[in-house]
Amino acid sequence: MDFKDLLKEKVKTVDEYLEKYLPSEKEYPQIIFEAMRYSVFAGGKRLRPIIVMEACKAFGGDVEKAMPFACSIEMIHTYSLIHDDLPALDNDDYRRGRLTSHKMFGEDMAILAGDALLHHAFETMARACVEQGDIKASKAMLAIAEGAGVHGMVGGQVVDVISEGKPIDKETLDFIHKNKTAAMLIGALKSGAVLGGATEEEIAKIERAGELIGVAFQIQDDILDVTSTFEKLGKPINSDEKNHKVTYATMFGIEKASEFVETMSDEAIDILKSMGEKTDFLVKLTEYLIKREN
Ligand code: IPE
Ligand code: IPE
Ligand code: MG
Ligand code: MG
Ligand code: MG
Repeated sequence: MDFKDLLKEKVKTVDEYLEKYLPSEKEYPQIIFEAMRYSVFAGGKRLRPIIVMEACKAFGGDVEKAMPFACSIEMIHTYSLIHDDLPALDNDDYRRGRLTSHKMFGEDMAILAGDALLHHAFETMARACVEQGDIKASKAMLAIAEGAGVHGMVGGQVVDVISEGKPIDKETLDFIHKNKTAAMLIGALKSGAVLGGATEEEIAKIERAGELIGVAFQIQDDILDVTSTFEKLGKPINSDEKNHKVTYATMFGIEKASEFVETMSDEAIDILKSMGEKTDFLVKLTEYLIKREN
């Protein structure tokens, strides 16, 4: 099967489980459930949940047990996008091909829908920890919490926002990329690997690979912000220029930035390959991401 079709199948599985883990929009007060579902089911590549599933599988785990964690990281990611688009942050009107949450439901409900998704993710993971009664589940939740929190995604978003319009250096830019984006990808890989029973040595390798894949992913996002189209991305182009953000694209130019994506991805692939054939899917996914168009 073509890798793109394989991904489509995996997206379908993720969506089926998200349907199961998200509350129904028939519940009162409907508006919040509607808003949560509106952004989650707008599409999206489902990259983070797929990574949780595949990392778990790679190290010999039961993927079924990884599903609450896979869905929860997608809920957290979706909340981060809703808040990222708010007028106080990037002030963008489209996401995943639809009007952003605040454009559709108002700023109040968009803030609350983000809060709701974040808390629902932790409720879903905590319930899985109780039900599975396995320390591996708690460690998976911890990995995701670390990726999402102030020492991860939120911390990165903070430096991203306070750096707007300032001539930041490469060190600061790397801090932003490592935290706002790579931390969640490390969280996805690590939680899956932990659930699968990876060794400490394997987890250390996975973390390093995740950092490289994550920074490369954000550099590619910055490139696409300049070179792609609204139709392909489902979100506005030139958002970074509008917000006076320094990115790899502005600091090094598109060509050099693309080289960074390639060399970082290649390094990640070497690390993944050093663990043997079991990481085949993750290698293919990393190769796919280098050339992604959305
Ligand atoms: C967008 O993430 C935000 C970044 C970290 C660059 P994705 O590109 O994974 O967005 P979706 O989930 O496919 O919409
Ligand atoms: C934000 O990066 C990443 C998040 C933590 C949400 P961007 O602001 O570049 O993401 P997009 O381009 O809006 O998806
Ligand atoms: Mg942003
Ligand atoms: Mg943004
Ligand atoms: Mg962007």
